[in-house]
Amino acid sequence: MFKKLLFLLILMINVSFSQNQLPLIPQPKSIVLGKGSFVLTNKTVIQSDEDSFEAKYLQEIIKQQLGLDLKIVTSTKAHSRIIFANKIIEEKKSFKEWYTLSISKNDVIITATEDHGIFYGIQTLSQLLPIEKSSEVKLPCLTIIDEPNYSWRGMHLDCARHFFPKEFIKKYIDYLAMYKMNTFHWHLTDDQGWRIEIKKYPKLTEVGAWRNGSMIGYYSDQKFDDKRYGGFYTQDDIKEIVTYANQRHITIVPEIEMPGHAMAALAAYPEYSCTGGPFEVGKTWGVLDDVFCPKDETFTFLQNILTEVIDLFPSKYIHIGGDESPKVRWKVCPNCQKRIKDEHLKDEHELQSYFIQRIEKFVNTKGRKIIGWDEILEGGLAPNAAVMSWRGTEGGIAAAKQNHFVVMSPGSHCYFDHYQGEPKNEPIAFGGYTTVEKVYSFNPTPKELSKEEANYILGAQANLWTEYIETPSHVEYMIFPRMLALSEVLWGTSKPEKYSDFQNRIIQHFDVFDKKGINYSKSIFEITTKASQSISHDGILFELKSATNTNGIRYTSDGSNPNLSSKEYSNPLEINKSQTIKAALFENGKQKSATIEQKFYSSKALGKKITLVNQPHENYSIGGAFTLVDGIIGNRSKFGRDWLGFSGKDLDATIDLGKSETINKVVLCVLESQGSWIYYPKEISVLISNDGQKFENVTKLSLSEIQDVKGEVVLEVKGKIARYIKIIATNLGRIPDGNPGAGSEAWLFVDEIGIE
Ligand code: ACM
Ligand code: ZN
Repeated sequence: MFKKLLFLLILMINVSFSQNQLPLIPQPKSIVLGKGSFVLTNKTVIQSDEDSFEAKYLQEIIKQQLGLDLKIVTSTKAHSRIIFANKIIEEKKSFKEWYTLSISKNDVIITATEDHGIFYGIQTLSQLLPIEKSSEVKLPCLTIIDEPNYSWRGMHLDCARHFFPKEFIKKYIDYLAMYKMNTFHWHLTDDQGWRIEIKKYPKLTEVGAWRNGSMIGYYSDQKFDDKRYGGFYTQDDIKEIVTYANQRHITIVPEIEMPGHAMAALAAYPEYSCTGGPFEVGKTWGVLDDVFCPKDETFTFLQNILTEVIDLFPSKYIHIGGDESPKVRWKVCPNCQKRIKDEHLKDEHELQSYFIQRIEKFVNTKGRKIIGWDEILEGGLAPNAAVMSWRGTEGGIAAAKQNHFVVMSPGSHCYFDHYQGEPKNEPIAFGGYTTVEKVYSFNPTPKELSKEEANYILGAQANLWTEYIETPSHVEYMIFPRMLALSEVLWGTSKPEKYSDFQNRIIQHFDVFDKKGINYSKSIFEITTKASQSISHDGILFELKSATNTNGIRYTSDGSNPNLSSKEYSNPLEINKSQTIKAALFENGKQKSATIEQKFYSSKALGKKITLVNQPHENYSIGGAFTLVDGIIGNRSKFGRDWLGFSGKDLDATIDLGKSETINKVVLCVLESQGSWIYYPKEISVLISNDGQKFENVTKLSLSEIQDVKGEVVLEVKGKIARYIKIIATNLGRIPDGNPGAGSEAWLFVDEIGIE
C-alpha cells in the first residue's frame, strides 16, 4: 500500500512557473498569471464537437506526452474540462489565427473564431505539458490572449537536391505546426531532380526524378559519386500530404521552377530547350546554362503541368521560381531572338519578364496568384505577382514600393543552409554564418518602407536548400533551433535586446527535442569571440563569451586543448604575436561546450589604423575595416564573418603603420565561391607613401596570378620604406556569361592584410 502511494507521488507532476519561465515559443502577446492550478488527470474530459479534428489532435498529444487517455464529449458536467469555445468577436473577425487560453481551477478554455486559433491554443497548451508519463499534471492558472503579426510564417524545403520521403515531410509539417508556422514552401523541381508526378508527362518522373551521380564534398572540390539517386511523390502522396498539412492549418506552396533550374525537366523533354539537347539530370550543384526556351510549345507544356499542380494544391500562391536563369542560350537561339523582336522586347531580361508575365496570366485564369524569387523584378514585374526577396531585402523593398506583396527571405538571416556555429564543429554546409541570435534579430519589415508600403510585407520564411543535406536527421539539425527564432520573429514577440531570455526558453525546448528524438544543433552553447582594436594600435584585444554562463571559460595559448586546470578567462586577452587560442566552457567539473580554436597571424599591420574608400555591403561588414587587420584569417568555408564583402565595388584600403618601416611583402586573402557569386578580383595592386598624400605604385598581380595562388596573395615589395600602405583589389564587375550569377555584379570578398 505504502509502495503504491509513493509510486503515485512520483508520478504527480507539478508544473509551476513564473511568467518569464513559461517555456513558450513563440512568446504569446499577453500572459496574465493567476492563482492556483488546474489538475489534469484521466478524469479530465475534452468538450468539443464530436467530429473536431482539433479535439482528437489534443487527445493524441495528451496520450503521447503524458500517457493519459481523455474522453471527447459534446457536453459534460465533469469538474475537470478542456473546452473549445468558438466565439466571433466583431473586431477579430478578419484575423482567423487569434485565440485565448484560459486556465482556471476547473476548466481549461480555448476560445477562437476559427479552428486555426483553437489549434494554436492547443499548441500553447501542449508546450505547458511535460513529456513524461504522469497520472496527474498541475497547470498554473493563467490567461493568454494571442495572435500573430505576420500572415506568412514560412519554412521552405528543397526536395530536389535531396529527396525526403513522405513520412518525413509529414514530420516536417508537424515541426512547423509546433511553432505556429503556417506556410510550407515545397521546392519540388530543380536541375538535379523532378519530384512531382505529372500524369500528362510521365517522363518527368521516369527520367527527371533520377540522376546518375551527385557531388560529394564542397562545390569547389568538383568531386562526384556515380550512384543512381532519386525519388518522387505520386499524386496520391501529395493529396495525402496536402490534407495532413491542411488539418494542421499549414498551406503548402508548391514551387515549379522556370525558366531556369530546369535541367531535370529538359532531360526528360529536351524539345522545350533552346538547343534540343540531349541532356542529363544535373549532378553538379549551382546554376546551369540550359533553361526553358520561351516558345509556344514550352508554354503549353508548362501550363499543362501547372494545371495538374493547381488541382493538387489549394494554395492561393503558386511559386514559379524565376531565380538564377542564365541568358546565354537565349542570346543565340533563333526562337528566343524572334520572340524578342515580335514582342518588341529590349533584351533577354525583358524576355524573362515576358516569360513570367505569360505564366502569370495563365495562373490568374485559374484563380491563383504567382510568387517568384526577386529576379522576377528584372525587366518589369508581372502585374499581380508577389516577390520572395532572397538576395537581401532590396528586392522586397522595391516590390513593396510598387504595391506588390512580399515575403522576406534574405540570405543574411533566413538561409538555414548556412553554418550556425563554428564550421569545425558543424557538418559541411553551404557557407555563410547565420546564428540563432542573428535569426532572432531579424526584422521582416524594413525601415525604408512607409506604413502603407509595410502592409505589403506578408511575412518571412527560412529556406533550406539541401545540396549538403542528405538525411531527415540533418534537416532537423539545420532547422532546430533556428526555426524557433524565426517563429518568434514572425509571431511578433521577439525582443532581440532580450536574446538571453529567449535562449533560456530554447534550452527548455532542447529537453523536448531529446525526449521526442529530434536532432538539433547545440551551437548556442559555443563560446563566441570578438576581436577589437586596442587603444594603442599595438596588437588587438580578444574577448571570449559564453551565452549561457558568465564564468567557467578556460583557455590556452600554447596550442594544447583546454581542461579544468587551464587558465580561467576573466578579461579580454591582449594579442600581439602569432599564436592559437583554444577555449571551452566548463561547468560542475565537466566540459560543457565544444572547444573553439582561433589562430592569430601577427604582422606589422596587426591592429593598425585602417581606412576604406568604399564601404562593404551591410550584410558582410561585421567588424568593419578593422576586420582586415585583426589577425584573424577568414575561414574559406564561412564567409558570413571575418571577411568583408563588396557588391560590385573595389577594395581600396590604406593602413597607417604609425611610423615609416621597411616593408618586404604585403599579403591579402581573397575568396572565390562562384555558386554564391563571389569572384576573385581582376587585379590587386599595392601603393606606398610616407606622407599619406602622394602614393607610389609598387607592384600588382593579375587575375591569373591570383587564381594560381588560390586567393592567398603575396605581393613582393622588397625592402621599401613607407608609413602608409594602400591595397586596391579591383572587383570583377559584371559576372561573365556561362558563370553562376551571369549578368549580375560580382561579389568581392577580402580578408586579412599582412605587412611583413
Ligand atoms: C535561391 O536561393 N536561388 C532562391
Ligand atoms: Zn530559345
